[in-house]
Amino acid sequence: MTRMKILLAPEPVLKQEAQPVTEFDADLKKLADDMLETMYGARGIGLAANQVGVLKRILVMDVGQRSGTRNPQVLVNPEIIWESEELCTKEEGCLSIPGHYAMVERPTVVRVKYYDVTGGEHEMECEDWAAACVQHEIDHLNGVLFPEHLSRLKRDIIMKKMRKDKKQYEEDGRGDLYDPQNGSDE
Ligand code: NI
Repeated sequence: MTRMKILLAPEPVLKQEAQPVTEFDADLKKLADDMLETMYGARGIGLAANQVGVLKRILVMDVGQRSGTRNPQVLVNPEIIWESEELCTKEEGCLSIPGHYAMVERPTVVRVKYYDVTGGEHEMECEDWAAACVQHEIDHLNGVLFPEHLSRLKRDIIMKKMRKDKKQYEEDGRGDLYDPQNGSDE
């Protein structure tokens, strides 16, 4: 498995829509494995393909890893087919926007249809952190970053700081070595 470089905002590929996966082949399996390795390496709980520069609809997540057991999940062509009317607010972060966190409101429970890497179709219900995480990652596949859920003022503050931070990370050559202290990066 190879650890991939996580792209930092602002980066054009993070604003683009990923395309559906049509080939469930060895390359897809390798991409999924590399994305998991990259996510675990950065201590994130989720990662979407856009964040490693690949415009394919695939995301990986593991919201339970901090309890000590890994439960890697790979969702190909994920689609939210139902969401609760009830909303909840959680503090979100993002491996592409390191060091910035904000409260984001989303449906508390969602039902997701997706494919595994071999093309098998599945459905699952996500709640709590898993719901926030899967919605955050599907947003990525649609070219949407979490600050877009905030007020314009808050969004502008984060993105302005992020532009500076990105330059600094690149100068320091550690854009892909970001080590979050906080646990909620996605
Ligand atoms: Ni993210």
